[in-house]
Amino acid sequence: MVEILYLAAAVAFIVGLKQLGSPRTARSGNRIAALGMLAVIIITLVTEDVVNWVTIGAGLAVGTALGAWFAVRVQMTSMPQMVAAFNGFGGLASALVAAVAVVEVDLGSIPPETSVALLASLIIGAVTFTGSFVAFAKLQGILPGRPLLFPGQNVANGLLLAAMVGIAIRAGVRAEALSYWTVGGIALLMGILAVIPIGGADMPVVISLLNSFSGLAAAAAGFAIESNPLIIGGALVGAAGLILTVQMTEAMNRSLANVLFAGFGSGAATATDSTIGERPVKRATAEDVAIALRYAQSVIFVPGYGLAVAQAQHALRELADALEEEGVDVQYAIHPVAGRMPGHMNVLLAEADVPYEQLLDLEQADPRFAHTDVVLILGANDVVNTSARDDPSSPIYGMPILNVDRAGQVIVVKRSLSPGFAGIDNPIFYEDKTLMFFSDAKAALEETLKALKEL
Ligand code: TAP
Repeated sequence: MVEILYLAAAVAFIVGLKQLGSPRTARSGNRIAALGMLAVIIITLVTEDVVNWVTIGAGLAVGTALGAWFAVRVQMTSMPQMVAAFNGFGGLASALVAAVAVVEVDLGSIPPETSVALLASLIIGAVTFTGSFVAFAKLQGILPGRPLLFPGQNVANGLLLAAMVGIAIRAGVRAEALSYWTVGGIALLMGILAVIPIGGADMPVVISLLNSFSGLAAAAAGFAIESNPLIIGGALVGAAGLILTVQMTEAMNRSLANVLFAGFGSGAATATDSTIGERPVKRATAEDVAIALRYAQSVIFVPGYGLAVAQAQHALRELADALEEEGVDVQYAIHPVAGRMPGHMNVLLAEADVPYEQLLDLEQADPRFAHTDVVLILGANDVVNTSARDDPSSPIYGMPILNVDRAGQVIVVKRSLSPGFAGIDNPIFYEDKTLMFFSDAKAALEETLKALKEL
């Protein structure tokens, strides 16, 4: 009976994951998966005879209070840090499960497969713990966001990895507790060393990978303590995190190895163009933008990281509503890596109740640009950078972009000619059909709405 209930919970996880695939069903998917997890926790607590209810109650109270506090307090732009911290705690939990086993179990009497599972849980959990908190510190500005590089870094990491594997084999074969602790210590160090050479802007990819690791660590812990739901839940997180990681690197046209080892953003790999700002651009005012939008038949908004920074999603929705009242056809084109985390723009626009049917992904948007009168780019840069399409020497060459230059007119809202995450200039700013409206995105949208009403 217990196993059947666990199976039902596993089905709930999978249905939940499936529903998370669309904004329309994501909320219910989240609830279904959470209910499945709650069911697993209750069944485990009731059927296993090892429970100290006071400890469980205290853990539950502290965890719930902290989780609720974070969820209410966190800004949308700080979401990647929060996910990093949660992954870190997940990894720590798995490493602690392994540590408790090392202390309490007679290591000489466990079968080889259990010691492999214990070591995997310890190593992956410890790497995830420190790696996630380095990622957190980089995004929070506690550590410098730039890649921290030193000569021979990859070689040193490789040697440390080899030493860890060697000692792990010794720990398993000789059943030595000291070797287990040494392996755990090296794994903690490896987590730090693996993440410091990665630039802050690549942290979402790292966080997604560490998320996958936290799932693998939990699955390994599940094998060690023979818990089927932990194995299933961990494997699902491991697979989902890995798929997301691969999708993010593909959308940036970079390999995972490039993200992890190339020190992207250190200046060596990124060509920060010293000629930025030297060529002339056409400037626009709120009135110019209002006129262009009001007399267009079709407008596509392209949101980017700057829209999130400015928290301009509600102002955008208000402008879109006003344009629709005037009979303008309004849509939004969302690039898969716009912003700084997967689904960043979808979440932002959903917050402002933008209708889902107006959201276009890369493939849907592409054929429409040629039939669109005005494209309004809001705090986006790299995702509309035509050098990714036209310039084989560009560091982002090959990254799929939103081909906004095929529209009748392009208006770019940003504060200056500063580059985006990739650190490179954008030829679209200097095109004949482009108007630059230099402003904070929220202020720009509010001023444009005001000007529109006065027309
Ligand atoms: P970016 O290329 O990073 O450009 C954002 C632009 O927003 C900047 O050029 C900045 O210019 C402007 N901006 C900043 N604050 C603003 C404000 N308050 N008001 C108006 N504009 C503001 O953004 P993107 O086009 O969204 O591209 C995302 C980048 O992040 C890609 O290179 C992608 O590969 C990378 N990345 C994304 C992810 C995910 S999963 N989304 C993960 C890792 C990396 P000013 O300073 O001149 O205003």
